[in-house]
Amino acid sequence: MASLKSLARLKQATIISPAGFSWRFSHVRFASTASSKVINIAGRDVSVPTGIFINNEFRKSIGGNTFAVENPATGKSIVEVEEGREEDVEAAVKAARDAFQNEEWANSDPAYRGELLNKLASLMERDKEDIIALEMIDTGKTYRQASTLDFPGSVGTLKYYAGWADKVTGMSSFNVPGTFAYTRREPIGVCGQIIPWNFPLMMFSWKIAPALVTGNTVVMKSAEATPLSALKMCELIKEAGFPAGVLNHVPGFGKTVGSAIANHMDIDKVAFTGSTTTGRTILKASATSNLKKVTLELGGKSPNIVFPDADIDNVVAWSAWGINLNFGQTCHAGTRIYVHEDIYDTFVQKFTARMAEIKVGDNFDPTTDQGPQNNKMQLDKILEYIESGKQEGATIQLGGKVSTAGTKGGYYMEPTIFTDVKPDMKIMKEEIFGPVVAISKFSTEAEVLKLANDSNYGLAAAVHTKDYERAVRVTNALQAGTTWVNMYNFVHWSIPFGGYKESGLGRECGEAVLENYTETKAVYLNMGKEAPQ
Ligand code: NAI
Ligand code: MG
Repeated sequence: MASLKSLARLKQATIISPAGFSWRFSHVRFASTASSKVINIAGRDVSVPTGIFINNEFRKSIGGNTFAVENPATGKSIVEVEEGREEDVEAAVKAARDAFQNEEWANSDPAYRGELLNKLASLMERDKEDIIALEMIDTGKTYRQASTLDFPGSVGTLKYYAGWADKVTGMSSFNVPGTFAYTRREPIGVCGQIIPWNFPLMMFSWKIAPALVTGNTVVMKSAEATPLSALKMCELIKEAGFPAGVLNHVPGFGKTVGSAIANHMDIDKVAFTGSTTTGRTILKASATSNLKKVTLELGGKSPNIVFPDADIDNVVAWSAWGINLNFGQTCHAGTRIYVHEDIYDTFVQKFTARMAEIKVGDNFDPTTDQGPQNNKMQLDKILEYIESGKQEGATIQLGGKVSTAGTKGGYYMEPTIFTDVKPDMKIMKEEIFGPVVAISKFSTEAEVLKLANDSNYGLAAAVHTKDYERAVRVTNALQAGTTWVNMYNFVHWSIPFGGYKESGLGRECGEAVLENYTETKAVYLNMGKEAPQ
């Protein structure tokens, strides 16, 4: 009898041989477990798992592929990570579907899901320095930014959505005679989530928190340039006690893993952050597969408008932050600055002086303001735009070249200002995604509104003025999902974020995103209504 019981237990279990080879009875194929690696990051030993995370275990890729993760400060490889392909996505979707249907998750008390997110947030706080170190070496971020923005922004998001757990409810109505109707907010199902390299940890949190708290399950794809923080988070997800299969992570490339997610017939929703070009591909993939729900957070070319009555020093400080945050690799960066002609010269002089103070260099040096750009492709793209700006006749006011201040082999860029930029120049129209800003002059409010809205993008915009009537009038007229008055580049997880026009579909953050992770089911109860004859 004992042997029958233990056989039942065995069927649930994963057998791990001394060689680290594992065999799951519930899955026909063999999958070997992937190990963790210890990386020495600026004198600190940090352990990070390197496998594909499915059903709460780290596996090797089915096809045996790996890819190198690079440190942008040196251009050298940090560690090899398992590279997922279509067959790994298949296994992850199956795990996520099983978990979605499993009683343990499907009928779970929402408060329990909130507790899991809070537990995850506490584990992050315990491992704070390791997580920050991984994010820094993978992205090139400075400690100042990673510790005051990326990390607290990620933990804050998890805690905020933990608080929503037992507050997502429906409505009820007696307004239709003869019936009582109510609505239920149900999870959508398996959610594919594809994130970029500019804010890997924060985008991971922004994506998983609202999805999981509402009872969905997830197949996550981190960016090929920056998988490390997601790998670490998977370890913590298991430790926090999330049931197996609720969160799965397939590191790999867009054309394989990303595309398999976007085209999958058993994924019910995709949430994507990245370029507008890839956003279009994902929307098309939804249209030709199963019409999965799609939300997109895409690019931007956001205007930053300065009226002559604004406090000039405040404007200079916020405008510099508007472009320097994350070294310009921010979708809502203030890349088009429009300055009123009366203060144009003063602004350009003070702003140039401020930007010239930025210290570029090794991101692990605490005195550094700007580390390397995230990857070589991105640096090359920035340099191409600088060349195009010069050729189209804009003036380089500051910078414009690769910076030699950092480590040899790294992707460092000088903070760059273009002046005399005309509306039809490429550097005024297209997203550069680097520390490059275009400045232009205006004379009337009507003129600057026209210039500001003359863009395919509509992610963010700012206005600087002491006149609050003007501030409200102008922000009302700006076609952008986020607008700021007398500040720039401040986004909080409790406030909706998303784009007008080609900057995206749907909203993240705040209560708004919960709409995107739930289906609303209407239920009518007959309260005496007669059947039609
Ligand atoms: P991307 O949009 O191609 O990459 C973002 C994510 O999408 C990555 O995880 C990538 O692997 C995945 N992906 C790529 N192709 C895919 C496909 N066919 N199907 C599904 N997923 C796919 O952005 P990329 O190439 O890294 O950067 C190019 C430009 O995009 C940047 O220069 C910048 O202008 C913009 N960008 C904007 C971001 C934002 O936050 N809005 C973030 C990253 C890039
Ligand atoms: Mg990297």
